[in-house]
Amino acid sequence: MPDIDLLRALPRPKRNVQARSTAKTEEHVRISRQYSAEYFDGSRDYGYGGYRYDGRWVPVARDIIRHFGLKPGDRVLDVGCAKGFLVKDLLAVCPGLEVFGIDVSRYALMHCEPEAIGRLHIGSADDLPFPDGSFAAVLSINSLHNLPRPRLIKALQEMQRLAPGRGFVQVDSYRTPEQKAIFESWVLTAEYHDYPAGWIALFEEAGYTGDYYWTIIE
Ligand SMILES: C[S@@+](CC[C@H](N)C(=O)[O-])C[C@H]1O[C@@H](n2cnc3c(N)ncnc32)[C@H](O)[C@@H]1O
Repeated sequence: MPDIDLLRALPRPKRNVQARSTAKTEEHVRISRQYSAEYFDGSRDYGYGGYRYDGRWVPVARDIIRHFGLKPGDRVLDVGCAKGFLVKDLLAVCPGLEVFGIDVSRYALMHCEPEAIGRLHIGSADDLPFPDGSFAAVLSINSLHNLPRPRLIKALQEMQRLAPGRGFVQVDSYRTPEQKAIFESWVLTAEYHDYPAGWIALFEEAGYTGDYYWTIIE
């Protein structure tokens, strides 16, 4: 079943379109796409408005481990790992699991959880510096939509190369024109987004055979 909500244990996202103090501008988009301090820990107008560990990924880590049947000694990669919250929780839930992350943000890696130190690499999703078939599972949550379409296809192919059929991707989507309009007024970083059917066609075009789910603002 490729379509699976592995983030169902998370509290409902607080992406309230009212939460920004001013209307989005090109400058907000430009700064947020730098994935620096402003995006993670600056004002809500540039992104998270404070990206802090609160343990919410622990039950998600449990569901991921169960879904992929992961065991100590298996290697797992989180693409777009940010400060390593999921890396930390996968390590805690399954001691002995070899968990790693990769992200383009030097700021996030420099402010990572202590448990993730040494496990996080700097790099881009479309050029993963690991051998073919070297991971038992590769995850990418709310990150791949930040690449433009051709690089997004390459990123999906990279996930497939590292763990054929053993991926999980969650990306921005919408099911109705109303949801699409809300998303477009809210979005800062995403370079590509689509309805689920469009995403599934893109996964097929890339040859990606792993699992997936959608982040939808409601
Ligand atoms: C919305 S955050 C998601 C972080 C984390 N996965 C989570 O769900 O909390 C998007 C992340 O994608 C990262 N990112 C953006 N472009 C990227 C790229 N080309 N390769 C890898 N990571 C990227 C950002 O630095 C940021 O950490």
